[in-house]
Amino acid sequence: MSKQFDVVVIGGGPGGYIAAIRAAQLGFNVACIDEWKNAKGGPALGGTCTNVGCIPSKALLQSSEHFDHASHHFAEHGIEVNGLSLDLAKMVARKDTVVKQNNDGIVYLLKKNKVTFFHGRGSFVAAKDGGYEIKAGEELIQGKHIIVATGSNARALPGTPFDEDNILSNDGALRMGAVPKKLGLIGSGVIGLEMGSVWRRLGAEVTILEGLPTFLGAVDEQIAKEAHKAFVKQGLKIELGVKVGEIKNGKKSVSIAYTNAKGEAQTLDVDKLIISIGRVANTIGLGAETVGLALDERDAIVVDGDCKTNLPNVWAVGDVVRGPMLAHKAEEEGVAVAERIAGQHGHVNFNTIPWVIYTNPEIAWVGQTEQQLKAVGRAYKAGTFPFMANGRARALGDTTGMVKMLADATTDEILGVHIVGPMASELIAECVVAMEFRASAEDIARICHAHPSLSEATKEAALAVDKRTLNF
Ligand code: FAD
Ligand code: NAI
Repeated sequence: MSKQFDVVVIGGGPGGYIAAIRAAQLGFNVACIDEWKNAKGGPALGGTCTNVGCIPSKALLQSSEHFDHASHHFAEHGIEVNGLSLDLAKMVARKDTVVKQNNDGIVYLLKKNKVTFFHGRGSFVAAKDGGYEIKAGEELIQGKHIIVATGSNARALPGTPFDEDNILSNDGALRMGAVPKKLGLIGSGVIGLEMGSVWRRLGAEVTILEGLPTFLGAVDEQIAKEAHKAFVKQGLKIELGVKVGEIKNGKKSVSIAYTNAKGEAQTLDVDKLIISIGRVANTIGLGAETVGLALDERDAIVVDGDCKTNLPNVWAVGDVVRGPMLAHKAEEEGVAVAERIAGQHGHVNFNTIPWVIYTNPEIAWVGQTEQQLKAVGRAYKAGTFPFMANGRARALGDTTGMVKMLADATTDEILGVHIVGPMASELIAECVVAMEFRASAEDIARICHAHPSLSEATKEAALAVDKRTLNF
């Protein structure tokens, strides 16, 4: 008789492994199936996030920023560096070590929580006995509840497959063997900017071709403009409003024909090309059709607000369903689903999911942008505070950017916070907490913030909402 589980999770990324742990904490007998292989063919838990996403990109962003500081900014602090050189192989090996530490950490966590792990593909075989029969690698297992967390894959341009040698997805972009002299990127979204920054800092001449006429259209306009200015100053070439045409993949270079915003025909010749034009939900080999699991026109699994699919006791979370493709969103959905299976009231507040782009300056936001508030006719007050006027930022030598707070014109409730500048990724956490507790700008303005700290800029932005900044 096949092994029986209360909950079977297909996918071991942040959505899946966190759902498995939470379900186990709630007393269920849980299995987690993941097919990712490391270089030796063994398991590599953590999905896109750990293997070719959040973790390795942040490791390379950190290393390349150190290099950039040593090359260009140490001198401002009176530190002279002679004979600086780059050992790229060592930098990439360090990144791989960080990834492995995270892979191993998740193996430990699953063991600690008594989750049974199967390495291999998970697929639906049949609905059976009020549950489901699932192929887990080579074994057949049974689950009463199934949580699908199979993630996403990089979107390719039609007719231009990734070879991960010249034409790279996020995977190849994180393991180039040498710094390309000329690097092209298509798409100036989150991956385009993060990966473009890494390789520019390491010495590549970087050109990003973006289809839309506006830069970072989802970001508050004022913040996006400030960020654009900083990136261009650093030497990132960003061409907006282009139409990409034929891409020729030569042996040692790539040639991209495109039309620029003025309608002029152009060619960009580069050594390597990263295509970062978004990601597509991954349901390959899941056997969705064998049990009638509904997918939408983009192959994402159709779910309701509670992550329920069209099938009884089948749930789906993370990148494989609607909503932002973020690791923390996947995790929150995983926890909420495990709690719903246990009869509790799991909840994910989509209005307070933070976004962070880990460039320099960092960009982070939560809630509504000024443009969104205008579009729905909501009366608001805005307060901004520049890092230029923040003592800690001056001491750091990093004064680019600002904090911008938006609050309801009548109630003063915070509706959105938008930050471009140093450590925006950490500063946004206070704003998420504030919005979760439905704080007013006045609440933040009256809270004692340590001096000197970057967080004082958040307090000052809150004061600015009431036009009473103290330090500007
Ligand atoms: P995934 O992490 O994609 O995990 C899915 C897992 O399921 C994989 O291991 C896959 O092999 C496995 N799988 C798929 N099908 C099957 C099957 N049939 N059987 C068994 N296993 C299967 N997000 C952030 O929040 N912050 C960041 O800084 C960030 N940086 C990123 C950088 C890059 C370069 C990229 C590409 C993404 C980044 N993301 C970031 C997005 C983040 O990685 C995803 O949102 C997150 O990984 C989604 O988690 P998930 O569990 O839904 O899916
Ligand atoms: P993205 O959606 O952020 O950006 C894609 C960009 O490509 C957009 O600006 C789009 O207009 C442009 N584009 C699309 N088609 C194009 C075409 N044919 N020609 C030119 N431009 C085109 O997607 P990206 O950067 O691939 O990242 C995927 C997702 O991964 C992100 O949306 C995010 O959810 C996640 N991610 C999150 C990170 C973080 O949280 N720090 C870091 C990296 C990725």
